[in-house]
Amino acid sequence: MIGILRFSVAAVAALAALAAGSAVAQQPAPPAFAPPNLTPAGVRSLAANCAACHGTNGRPAPGSTLAGLAGKPQNELLTAMTQFKEGKKPATVMHQLTKGYSSEEIAALAEYFSKLTR
Ligand code: HEC
Repeated sequence: MIGILRFSVAAVAALAALAAGSAVAQQPAPPAFAPPNLTPAGVRSLAANCAACHGTNGRPAPGSTLAGLAGKPQNELLTAMTQFKEGKKPATVMHQLTKGYSSEEIAALAEYFSKLTR
């Protein structure tokens, strides 16, 4: 009787360990970033995320106090975004926002906006 009980306790413990092991195995670590879609259409959709604040095509609405992005020098845009991401440039929102983009995406955004006319 006690022998059977011991056996089942051990079996339950072994099953629980197995289940825990497989639950962990089923959750691979998420990638830091999804593979970037840097096709022209992909970059355009990344850039669309900026329109809410910086205006359509990087041109802020009249009277907006936010910086325009269209036609700014590529290097200026790249530096600002990189510094936001690294916490080196004071910001209210951009420090968080830029953390959602990989360096490749930030470079592509800088290039994209620099080529738009102001
Ligand atoms: C929720 C509003 C919001 C969105 C969305 C947004 N920005 Fe900004 N952006 C700001 C604000 C506000 C600033 C001023 C710095 C700060 O306070 O964060 C700024 C500053 C910047 C600057 C520096 C401009 C300068 O001349 O100093 C750049 C470059 C920039 N944003 C790029 C982008 C890009 C590219 C995107 C899209 C990926 C984007 N922003 C999306 C609000 C936003």
